[in-house]
Amino acid sequence: MNDTEPVAHPPVRQPIPIVDHRHASIVPSVPKQVSKPARLVADRMGRPLHDLRISVTDRCNFRCTYCMPKEVFGKEHAFLAHRDLLSFEEITRAARAFMDLGVRKIRLTGGEPLLRKSQERLVAMLHTLRTPDGHPPELTMTTNGSILARKAQTLKDAGLDRVTVSLDALDDTVFRRMNDVDFPVAEVLRGIETAQAVGLGPVKVNMVVKRGTNDAQILPMVERFRGTGIVLRFIEYMDAGNSNGWCMNEVLPSQEVVDQIHRHHPLHPLEAHRPGETAQRWAFDDGGGEIGVISSVSRAFCGTCSRARLSMEGKLYLCLFASHGHDLRALLRDSPQAGRDPVSDAQLRAALAQIWSRRVDRYSELRAFQASGALPSERKVEMSYIGG
Ligand code: GTP
Ligand code: 5AD
Ligand code: SF4
Ligand code: SF4
Repeated sequence: MNDTEPVAHPPVRQPIPIVDHRHASIVPSVPKQVSKPARLVADRMGRPLHDLRISVTDRCNFRCTYCMPKEVFGKEHAFLAHRDLLSFEEITRAARAFMDLGVRKIRLTGGEPLLRKSQERLVAMLHTLRTPDGHPPELTMTTNGSILARKAQTLKDAGLDRVTVSLDALDDTVFRRMNDVDFPVAEVLRGIETAQAVGLGPVKVNMVVKRGTNDAQILPMVERFRGTGIVLRFIEYMDAGNSNGWCMNEVLPSQEVVDQIHRHHPLHPLEAHRPGETAQRWAFDDGGGEIGVISSVSRAFCGTCSRARLSMEGKLYLCLFASHGHDLRALLRDSPQAGRDPVSDAQLRAALAQIWSRRVDRYSELRAFQASGALPSERKVEMSYIGG
């Protein structure tokens, strides 16, 4: 064969996607005018920026069927590489800019946040931040509790204020079926008890209620946590992400949850601690503590939503149901290929203020008008990626 003969069928080059569509993003522009001092911002609907939820990893050791179903998040699923994640220094720098603009509460989430190594180092770094008037942020974490018993004391020592543990059932069989990795409930309960013992309270327990799957667990959960100081909250199953095959029939409206509990343990409503909270609070008449209901399907709370979400790779989402993020990593890191240097703190703050001031998101409210086609039809970000 002639070596110089042209190859008849050159191998087809597959295009390398630059942006994974699941995590589509836009690089924010930096305004020319940047104001030096910190200032509070509000979005187009007058909503302030108050909470920052930081997802530190897209990995989880559970495969809850409503969040990371095995058929989608199987062995071959490509999770992010470590180099793509924001470093703890980058996260802290971004958090500082958010605090300059009004953030007072920071929540670490995942996937499962405790799967990322040395989480306590990040907690300690965030604990050193101060609001413009000198206060530390309220630092919290949402975890599945699987390794919390081991980590609780170190997290407390690093400056974490409190934890929220996701727990969908007390019955071991139901729990193992829902986490779909055969994880025992006893270990999560041990995590909850340890967190309470070391002072990571008030500990909250979040239960996602799916009609026909774990609604029979509502009362056992109430009996278990009533009178313990632990705040149990019931979350309506949401149409988050694109993977869980959500349908309205599986949503148990919060009112039914409250009615059911009230029949056994009379309840009365409590005032919210502050505007913009996710949960409506109810207290047991007999002094047995309180429960909460998070009703984003039956009673959307977008009108006061003050939550920004930062993904592990530095994308800022303005809504849990957003399909596009704003690529802050592009501002935080230099990029010789794109001819970009990292921006200054004042520029970062100005870019964030501009993004927030243009925010119009209110997905859950629009869901109510779904029949009229008001909802965006694009793929939403996954819950395990943005952390609920
Ligand atoms: P607390 O400060 O303890 O009250 O926390 P939180 O309720 O703000 O946060 P948490 O992580 O406990 O939220 C509980 C659940 O509420 C999440 O897992 C989501 O299912 C849901 N949730 C939280 N924030 C939002 C939101 O902005 N929109 C919608 N639709 N649901 C939300
Ligand atoms: N609906 C409601 N809550 C959900 N979560 C995850 N997926 C859903 C969903 N489809 C909550 C769970 C989880 C937290 C991170 O988000 O409580 O632990
Ligand atoms: Fe379950 Fe939470 Fe893990 Fe999702 S992130 S699979 S809800 S434990
Ligand atoms: Fe906020 Fe979006 Fe949730 Fe509405 S749906 S409360 S705007 S995160």
